[in-house]
Amino acid sequence: MAVRELKPGIYSVGAIDWDRRLFDELIPLPDGTSYNAYLIKGSEKTALIDTVDPTKEREIISNLKELGINKIDYVIANHAEQDHSGSIHKILMIYPDAKVVTNPKCKDMLMDLLLIPDEKIITVNDRESISLGDKTLDFILAPWVHWPETMFTYLREDRILFTCDFLGSHLATSNLYVVDEATVYEAAKRYYAEIMMPFRMAIKRNLDKIKDLEIKIIAPSHGPVYDRPEFILNAYKEWISDEVKSEVIIPYISMHGSTGKMVDYFVDALIKRGMTVKPFNLTKTDIGELAMALVDAAAIVIASPTVLIGPHPNIVYATYLVNVLRPKLKLASVIGSCGWGGKMLEHIKEMLTNLKVDVIEPVVVKGYPKEEDFKSLERLAEEISKRTTQLKTIP
Ligand code: FEO
Repeated sequence: MAVRELKPGIYSVGAIDWDRRLFDELIPLPDGTSYNAYLIKGSEKTALIDTVDPTKEREIISNLKELGINKIDYVIANHAEQDHSGSIHKILMIYPDAKVVTNPKCKDMLMDLLLIPDEKIITVNDRESISLGDKTLDFILAPWVHWPETMFTYLREDRILFTCDFLGSHLATSNLYVVDEATVYEAAKRYYAEIMMPFRMAIKRNLDKIKDLEIKIIAPSHGPVYDRPEFILNAYKEWISDEVKSEVIIPYISMHGSTGKMVDYFVDALIKRGMTVKPFNLTKTDIGELAMALVDAAAIVIASPTVLIGPHPNIVYATYLVNVLRPKLKLASVIGSCGWGGKMLEHIKEMLTNLKVDVIEPVVVKGYPKEEDFKSLERLAEEISKRTTQLKTIP
């Protein structure tokens, strides 16, 4: 990625990863990503905020050379995860006078994960600052957006907040700033769903912490920079709010068509009642799409056949994921079929311990669904529709 100037003396020097399609060997990245790093030249000192994934360290080095940087005083580590910290070693090799600046928790993690020596790290606490001469960096500890050690760096004179993972998006784009808000909204929502959603309460606290800060630019370490900070701040406020949308999501698998028939019937029954329905065939779906749908949905109905004695393994995987992502779902149920018995229902219920949902009576049928089973599905659709109208919903 070429060097881009955010403002005089402030440069984007990170890397775009156009081809990356999987993060943490788990999260699909249909739009690639970027690892943003920012160089700030003060009148006396120079600081680098975050680095890049180790696979891209040649790019950050070449960007710094292009800018003619001979000395870096501080490498600010806002987060210890390797996609931001993984090139710190290389930077320290090339700029031996540089010190890593981070909080005590992040220091421990950098020493554990990257074996960075103790003497190379300076620690700062919440609301402490360092001066670069005519520019000042304020550090704001923001735990659990994404790990326990995460922090923000605020460039006081220019009112720029560097948030690392927080408010970012996995989006490879040549635009430095957000150009098309609709596209970035989708990417940022997917990112929130896959990475930030489990930390909804921590996000509330951290948003509160920065609410009085005058912010002109938000510069995350993934995706484009926000020169209209309210765009992403308002989106986050909606996503973390307790309000839900009148939506039902249905992750499902069908082996021989029985569960599939139930899903088809049930989807229609919900649509007839004016609800938005999002079925996800787990043999085909991108798991990130499912995570995104979980951000706002009021209800989840998991639909599974019985394999041996339990749910289909793809349902186990999706249910586990739903449970760890901790969406703000209010209602849950299960539908599906079995050949002769089993404990599919019990296993699914046991996996949803993190969710604060009311469980509505499931519909599990033997074999292909029959007339009375369709009536049960009508009853379930009616109950979900009625209960959703009693919730605080957003349009
Ligand atoms: Fe982009 Fe938590 O690392």
